Amino acid sequence: MLSPEDNMRMCQTGPGTPMGEAMRRFWIPILSSSQLPEADGDPIKVEIMSQKMVAFRNTEGVVGLIDQQCRHRNASLALGRVEKCGIRCLFHGWLFAPDGTVLEAPTTGFVDKGGNWRDLVPDHKSVRSASPVHSKVA
Ligand code: FES
Repeated sequence: MLSPEDNMRMCQTGPGTPMGEAMRRFWIPILSSSQLPEADGDPIKVEIMSQKMVAFRNTEGVVGLIDQQCRHRNASLALGRVEKCGIRCLFHGWLFAPDGTVLEAPTTGFVDKGGNWRDLVPDHKSVRSASPVHSKVA
């Protein structure tokens, strides 16, 4: 029989937990393709391994799966508008690619023309890579 501590170690899958780190090494099916919105449709909320994320299809049909919290000031990207080649935060208008890369940051004058978006985001390690339907949650 497992001790309460071992049970917690086996059951918790959030970022930084032993089981969470182990599970993040594998591809995990999250959604079927038919559950995803159409191109430029409203994003949908997804919660997996204690992480809140949003899934969407950009204008070209590329699927994105990124943290629900905007990297700028933590507004919910579930309210974001999918346009161009990514999802735009409604609060200050930052645009994120399906892999979480910052494409535009209008409040800073930054546009992805060789600028280093990491300079804009102090916690750039929190940027999640994305992949459709099956995903490694980083
Ligand atoms: S909170 Fe999202 S752009 Fe500022």
